[in-house]
Amino acid sequence: MEFSIKSGSPEKQRSACVVVGVFEARKLTLPAELLDNAANGYLSDLLRRGDMEGKAGSTLLLHNVPGTLCDRILLVGLGKEKEFRDQEFSNAVRTAVATLNETGAFDATLFLTELAIRKRDVAWRVRETVRMAIDTTYRFDDFKSKKETVRRPLRKLTLVVERRNELAEAEDALLQGLAIAEGVAFARNLGNMPPNICHPTYLAEQAQALASEFNLGCEILEREAMAELGMNALLSVARGAHQPPKLIVLHYRGSRSSEKPTVLVGKGVTFDTGGISLKPAADMDEMKYDMCGAAGVLGTLKAVARLALPINLTVIVPATENMPGGNASRPGDIVTSMSGQTIEILNTDAEGRLILCDALTYAERFNPDVVIDVATLTGACVVALGHVASGLFASRDNLARDLQEAGEDALDRAWHLPLWDDYQELLKSPFADMGNIGGRWGGAITAACFLSRFTKKYDWAHLDIAGTAWKSGAQKGATGRPVPLLVHYLLQRSGKID
Ligand code: BES
Ligand code: MN
Ligand code: ZN
Repeated sequence: MEFSIKSGSPEKQRSACVVVGVFEARKLTLPAELLDNAANGYLSDLLRRGDMEGKAGSTLLLHNVPGTLCDRILLVGLGKEKEFRDQEFSNAVRTAVATLNETGAFDATLFLTELAIRKRDVAWRVRETVRMAIDTTYRFDDFKSKKETVRRPLRKLTLVVERRNELAEAEDALLQGLAIAEGVAFARNLGNMPPNICHPTYLAEQAQALASEFNLGCEILEREAMAELGMNALLSVARGAHQPPKLIVLHYRGSRSSEKPTVLVGKGVTFDTGGISLKPAADMDEMKYDMCGAAGVLGTLKAVARLALPINLTVIVPATENMPGGNASRPGDIVTSMSGQTIEILNTDAEGRLILCDALTYAERFNPDVVIDVATLTGACVVALGHVASGLFASRDNLARDLQEAGEDALDRAWHLPLWDDYQELLKSPFADMGNIGGRWGGAITAACFLSRFTKKYDWAHLDIAGTAWKSGAQKGATGRPVPLLVHYLLQRSGKID
């Protein structure tokens, strides 16, 4: 889809479709009112006759409205004006785009970007509109022999801003929205890919492709190199797999100075059977999504590189399968991690922390300003926060605050959970420095506490995206979260948004 920005009045648009909002109950927004005036009360007549109430999610498509230059007008219900916030705005844009895709209109001019939302400026509205529009039309049909094609898909969307002096800002926001959407789509594609294709080697190839597209530094460490470094925790997970593990490292240098990099670490378990602590059969296919942390950090890198942000960013992806087998790790095995700390593997299904701990130790060598790891780490996090918020942990409260705010702004929320010492107790092992599980309760927190033992040398945050990285059921598929949160955070850090 193509996007552009303009300012102008709705009745003068030569467009296949002009999209304006209607609040509940039957209250025209300003652009709708302008159309109504030009059309001698045509719209208000319709509303009075009861054709539209303005309820959220409703739409009404009109053709050849007198006094206007457009072919169609799409009225989009916005719900109650008093309750119109971020989420309602995003839903209205999604409804509009989904509806436009079903009409015959190839192009449309969207006035929803003029709507006032508390605490949000024109840049936010444009950025989010672009993101939502692309997200709504996303399909993953690489493996369908007959693709469901939209007969006359929406090709061009023009976003209208109220004042000409907003145009420059809106153009910047448009580019940001496009880059975030591209990163999200990249992460969604990787996540949705079947696990027989998306294995560690495939992830490494994807990283190499990113490296050549954007001229990034790229290193792929093989099993031998990892053994050399003492990454026995990571390698213990890979033991059962026939697919070779990879440690993927990418460097983006957007800041000419020798500024310390932000390091993102993404869990790349391309399939998690649980290993010898085998998972139950039901829904096990969804464990192909256990590399969504990797997909998220790679997608973030892609967006950052597309925007050429003036920061240094390093991405580390420990990638492996977690499979059972005669050579697989056993419950009771003790391994020495790269940090020197010993770990008793009490459950081979708690594998994410085992691969992450060595990747986090490896991150030290890049002298990071901050390290953020992203992982589909625990079912317990889904129990705690459901599918709404990612779990957020941080070594410093202001880092947690920055990430939480970035999530709120990006409509990709995370919620801060504690890392108190009281929980560390639960990781005690009678035989090693720690066990790899903390027992039944507070599982998202004990997993984060485990990771915290490997992140003492830098500021660190951890996002548990087990509940947010993909959807199950009828809408099954990867979401691309937390790419929006992370890109927002990095945009903020580079001073591109306040
Ligand atoms: N990848 C899973 C976490 C997961 C489970 C994410 C279900 C989304 C949905 C992780 O490797 C895992 O298996 N964690 C275990 C940890 C337990 C053994 C301490 C879990 O959450 O059950
Ligand atoms: Mn597991
Ligand atoms: Zn896992």
